[in-house]
Amino acid sequence: MPQEINIPRHIAIIMDGNGRWATEKGLSRTAGHKEGTKRIREVIKAADEFGVRVLTLFAFSTENWNRPKKEIEILMRYLDSFLDHEAIELHENNMRLLIIGRDEPLPQYIQDKIRKVQAKTKDNTGLTLVLALNYGARQELVDAFKKIIPLVTRGEIALESVDENIIAKFLYTYGLPDPDLLIRTSGEMRLSNFLLWQLSYAEMYFPKKYWPDFTRDDLEKAIKEYKSRSRRFGGI
Ligand code: IPE
Ligand code: IPE
Ligand code: MG
Repeated sequence: MPQEINIPRHIAIIMDGNGRWATEKGLSRTAGHKEGTKRIREVIKAADEFGVRVLTLFAFSTENWNRPKKEIEILMRYLDSFLDHEAIELHENNMRLLIIGRDEPLPQYIQDKIRKVQAKTKDNTGLTLVLALNYGARQELVDAFKKIIPLVTRGEIALESVDENIIAKFLYTYGLPDPDLLIRTSGEMRLSNFLLWQLSYAEMYFPKKYWPDFTRDDLEKAIKEYKSRSRRFGGI
């Protein structure tokens, strides 16, 4: 897709509200997760069509392990099925899948599948779909410090040379542009430990709709809103 002027190059989405969507309809929370996966497909396709280059979706946070075991199991099952089916479609559409987050304690079968899909799609040149899975921004920073400190101690990186670029190099997102636009559905206005470093200058957009109601048209609306913003980056 040609890059239209002013289209966000990278959109990050906190897909929130599956549980409330279902509960308000008298359904089980997992029915909300199921409907939510349909919107994932729709939004990936739409983002690609609109010319977005990178789409990051927050699928499971490091804090989501605090949920009931049964809900986690079902979420992992949906994820497994997403990796099976969607992966093929991503590949057919020249899209690349990247996973950010810690491997442990994700079930081994999920870790294996992630590696397989990432390897299969790594040379694709279309949209990059980033799934934040068992992701926490503070954990990401801890992991980066743990890699940088030994290098500095051994003299392989001079302390004076440590700057923003070096730190960014040790984050899970190395090589990706920072998100231009953050969307969080469901009306909540917080980051919940998502991409704390990378969102420094992102435009924020908080639609009231729950994720299972967030369609292609809503993504278009979000992009329209983004285009109307004036990004000054500290200037005038
Ligand atoms: C987002 O919806 C999906 C995940 C966090 C996995 P929620 O499950 O958080 O839905 P609410 O916020 O409880 O409505
Ligand atoms: C953030 O949503 C995580 C994901 C969407 C995967 P949560 O629903 O877990 O966040 P809190 O608990 O409301 O902050
Ligand atoms: Mg939630």
